[in-house]
Amino acid sequence: MNRRNWLVNTGALVAGQVLSSYQLWPSVPFRRGREVRLQSNENPYGPSPVARKAMTEAFEEGNLYTALPTEDFRSLMAKSLGVTPEHIAVGAGSGEILKVAPLLCGREKAEIVAAHPTFELLVDYARNIGATIHQVPLDADMKHDLAEMDRRVDGTTTLVYVCNPNNPTGTLVKSEALQSFCEEVSRRALVFVDEAYHEYVEDPDYRSMVPLVQKGFNVIVSRTASKIHGLAGMRVGFGIGQPDTIRKLQRLMTGSVNVVGLRAALASYQDRDFQDSCRKRCSEGKKSLYQLFDTYTLSYVKSEANFVFFRSGQSIENFRPAMREKGVLVARPFPPYGDWCRVSIGTDDEMKQFSAAVSEILELSGKHGKAH
Ligand SMILES: Cc1ncc(COP(=O)(O)O)c(C=O)c1O
Repeated sequence: MNRRNWLVNTGALVAGQVLSSYQLWPSVPFRRGREVRLQSNENPYGPSPVARKAMTEAFEEGNLYTALPTEDFRSLMAKSLGVTPEHIAVGAGSGEILKVAPLLCGREKAEIVAAHPTFELLVDYARNIGATIHQVPLDADMKHDLAEMDRRVDGTTTLVYVCNPNNPTGTLVKSEALQSFCEEVSRRALVFVDEAYHEYVEDPDYRSMVPLVQKGFNVIVSRTASKIHGLAGMRVGFGIGQPDTIRKLQRLMTGSVNVVGLRAALASYQDRDFQDSCRKRCSEGKKSLYQLFDTYTLSYVKSEANFVFFRSGQSIENFRPAMREKGVLVARPFPPYGDWCRVSIGTDDEMKQFSAAVSEILELSGKHGKAH
């Protein structure tokens, strides 16, 4: 096979063509199967054309271990976040950082304070290795109840987990309040702030907690290439923390990131246009959803992420299979919110299919008339 045929077959030329017509959004349904995937907060537009090109080129490096691209990625992130590469650990998704963090203080000794409901990965993994978990219900606005979480942190607490924006609610905690909370609580325990949806946030008052790491606080912040960068399948994420904590974390980690994912992430984090376009599309998708929910007088939480939590008014145990029958996958139940549902923002076509399915189910149940 000559090089041109090889490039065509591997997609390199296709990626180049997409790149030259940047505004044409890649069509993805071929890889998404027949069901509309609105259950995992993936980015339906990714990977970006720039990342696709980088991935194709990375095949050439497939025979090499990844020390160099890992260092390139740590340096890039360090520079953009105002820390040193020693402040950064790269993982197979931020999930790897989330799972390993509770181990920093030993297995059975780990005592964790976290909101409920929140993203479960850290809490579930910690529970499975023998940690004790203290769950603090969200407040009436479905936000972290920082005052109560603070009260629950005592001499035995080893880690406090804050997901901001929170999954599944899409809510933010006020930046000033979170900053004071982190500053104060991190004197007593390691504070882990999960910023997986950082790039989707539009609230002008939002602040990342990375500056606390710069100032030397006992805080780890995690970020991921899985969300706005559309690289969930590539498994690249990272944690930003104090160098001695990061060193300990790295000693506990068992995997390493593959070169295709690293090269994709390196390219994607520098591709601001792609991130801006995805944020804008997601924002428009959320506005249309809010209109749909207003039409059916359904409650919902305004979201700062790429998903929305809404009250279908039907048990999620029934609503979810009913949606699946109509070809739309939505997220798992999030107790105690038994009649609420989390839906990810997909493409326009996918959201149309979601709206049609919701309308049919609601009108069939006869409980929700359209508001006039
Ligand atoms: C809040 C939050 N953190 C972390 C993750 C894990 O992402 P990844 O392991 O792909 O980086 C997710 C995935 O859905 C998430 O919602």
